[in-house]
Amino acid sequence: MKAPLFDRREFIAAAGCSTAALLSGGPRNLLASAPEIAVDLAHDPLRPEYHLLPPHNWMNDPNGPLWWKGQYHLFYQTNPGPVSGAKQWGHAVSEDMVHWRHRPIALTPTPGGPDGDGCWSGSAIVFDGVPTFLYAAVQSAPLEQSTIREGNPTLRETQMLATAEDDGLLRWEKLPNPVIAAPPTGLAVTGFRDPCPWHKADGWYLGVGSGIRGVGGCVLLYRSQDLRHWEYLHPLIQGKARTADSSNPVGSGEMWECPDFFPLGDRHCLLYSTEGKVYWTTGDYDARAHRYTPSRRGILDQGAYYAPKSFLAPGNRRILWGWITETRPEAEYVAAGWAGVMSLPRVLAVDADGQLTMAVADEVEKLRGKEERFRVKAGTPLRLELPTLRRELHLGATGSLHAVTLRLLTSGNKAWELNLDVRGGKVHCGEREFPLPKSRPGEPALRLFLDGSVIEAFVGCSQTITSRVYAVKSGQTELEIAVDGEGVLELTEWPLAAISSDRLTT
Ligand code: FRU
Repeated sequence: MKAPLFDRREFIAAAGCSTAALLSGGPRNLLASAPEIAVDLAHDPLRPEYHLLPPHNWMNDPNGPLWWKGQYHLFYQTNPGPVSGAKQWGHAVSEDMVHWRHRPIALTPTPGGPDGDGCWSGSAIVFDGVPTFLYAAVQSAPLEQSTIREGNPTLRETQMLATAEDDGLLRWEKLPNPVIAAPPTGLAVTGFRDPCPWHKADGWYLGVGSGIRGVGGCVLLYRSQDLRHWEYLHPLIQGKARTADSSNPVGSGEMWECPDFFPLGDRHCLLYSTEGKVYWTTGDYDARAHRYTPSRRGILDQGAYYAPKSFLAPGNRRILWGWITETRPEAEYVAAGWAGVMSLPRVLAVDADGQLTMAVADEVEKLRGKEERFRVKAGTPLRLELPTLRRELHLGATGSLHAVTLRLLTSGNKAWELNLDVRGGKVHCGEREFPLPKSRPGEPALRLFLDGSVIEAFVGCSQTITSRVYAVKSGQTELEIAVDGEGVLELTEWPLAAISSDRLTT
């Protein structure tokens, strides 16, 4: 799966990159208000029922997650239409990271301002007791001032700041001018966006997603005392040059989007998105020289998952949100009137070898209905009817089994398949193949969350694959589990409750 980055940029270009252009016309539902399409949305079996979704229209990256005054706030990239366009920050609030209430749009482009063509991704922090956003702003600019290199190179990216004016985080006041108005002079950057701040004893630090042409993707590092004045230091980390198409640095890996940098266990972790994938790294941060040296690296999710963003939740839990992308043709999601889903909250940790591990936050367990257990032997596959498309499934230890295959069947036809090739040490899912991690004693070999057209699968603790499955139908889709080899596979399955009655999330 490739994140549809290029289509998105092309769309922005086609729309003349202005909100006005987007609002003046376009495909069906581009202007549809939620009430008009609410009936369609409520009956759309592909629309998840326990994942956070935009009320309608488009969603991409999670932005600025924050625990503030007893509530979880999550912002996200959205725009007034079901295809990518001039971005705003949507807002949802929750007491438990599971049930949400939609809030009014938190940030919108200021016509003619530095973010006039989009409030792109960024972070939220609390500075002097005030929740504060740092975000990437885009504005049309002449070619020589453009910082974007893929698609239509007429956008200038700057870093902006906004402060909350109320404790509900409903009203935000922007500083009129960018706090970082241009990339460091002399650097041929491939992009300049998605600021990610952290605090140290000697001040605030800010990583900005970027890359240097012919040199590689990187995170540019800045320092400040007041979040308003920033001094450029150097790259926090520098990736390698790519030989692939340099006209498309996000695709080739020469532009790193959405860096996220934080301490995790006894190490540091950097996540970044490029080549349609999310990379995780763990390693050491030299807090004097302010350089980061990764020692382990991997792909965070093997499927339809991009641009994640973490925050620190009560209990010192590092929680990650990610954008579950669409993998169907644009015409289909335009017709549906919505696109993009927020992943379930994932708790991150690092093991003794520096491997990143992930588990769905315990809060999601409150959705579980009646637990059922099953046993599967070779030669007698199990077929589970799915009266609803909201399920959680755990597979026990694979023991001496050679392989386990899970298949979703709609009216007998295969809609999705995942195969754990235990003997070969591989996982196959659609066109994807990746190593089968060893499951730890007592841990399920696989945890699967099905929700409408979304499947989040956690293989052991360290591999995940998110799939979109559009050939599912309520009441007509079954799950088949087949095993090969000696022994018995134990399964536990739960129906999960919907978080709203009308697939509108709240
Ligand atoms: C990642 C991304 C970010 C950018 C945002 C715009 O999906 O391209 O780099 O800030 O989306 O919506």
